[in-house]
Amino acid sequence: MNLNYYPIGVWSYVLLILLICNSDALFKFTNIKCICYDKSFCELKRCELKLLSRGIVGLFLHAQANQLPINTSTCVLTLYRRFNGYRPFLYNVTVDVCSFLKNRKRFPFFNLVYDGIRNFSNINHSCPYNHDIIVNRMVLTDNMIAKVPVPSGFYKLKFHLKTDGLWRGEVEVHVEVNLGFDR
Ligand SMILES: *[C@@H]1O[C@H](CO)[C@@H](O)[C@H](O)[C@H]1NC(C)=O
Ligand SMILES: *[C@@H]1O[C@H](CO)[C@@H](O)[C@H](O)[C@H]1NC(C)=O
Ligand SMILES: *[C@@H]1O[C@H](CO)[C@@H](O)[C@H](O)[C@H]1NC(C)=O
Ligand SMILES: *[C@@H]1O[C@H](CO)[C@@H](O)[C@H](O)[C@H]1NC(C)=O
Repeated sequence: MNLNYYPIGVWSYVLLILLICNSDALFKFTNIKCICYDKSFCELKRCELKLLSRGIVGLFLHAQANQLPINTSTCVLTLYRRFNGYRPFLYNVTVDVCSFLKNRKRFPFFNLVYDGIRNFSNINHSCPYNHDIIVNRMVLTDNMIAKVPVPSGFYKLKFHLKTDGLWRGEVEVHVEVNLGFDR
């Protein structure tokens, strides 16, 4: 087949269709990293992203808890945007997780993130926690990002966790936001 046979207009049309078909995921996971600082407190059984179907990436996390119950927990949640390396961007909140679960309205950004996770995890209940922490097949949907006023780009969400006054571990989730336009 001779490519020159087709007028340039047809090829740019095909290219446009390909771009549109690939842009179905506006909001997707690109990487995950988890660390437990001390094995006597927690061990990671799983921390990975897996392709569930074409263009759909699922997040899997299983942190085995070795000191139960967990009565109190503080989470520092920080958003970073990639711009010559990752820089803190818009949100950095420190949340007492147990009081958050009693009154979620006080922390709107944390609540948005929690809303995205809770259907896929066993954390959706009030304190204390008496079990491992599991997130299974979590997927992102475009309407989740519709509520967050961020421009297209590459982001990192860092969860830094403390219990009983000690830092226990961190989870970093990298996501790509591709709105197809600037806002
Ligand atoms: C957590 O609470 C339970 C019951 O209220 C108590 O028995 C346990 O000692 C507490 N654990 C810690 C680490 O404070
Ligand atoms: C986020 O806030 C916490 C608590 O105030 C602070 O310790 C931390 O340094 C902040 N992180 C960034 C990246 O600014
Ligand atoms: C979680 O489940 C509730 C109830 O089934 C549903 O209304 C909500 O849209 C779900 N959220 C996500 C992020 O899947
Ligand atoms: C757990 O999730 C369900 C449905 O998504 C919700 O109705 C319920 O209030 C949640 N429980 C807690 C303690 O957040």
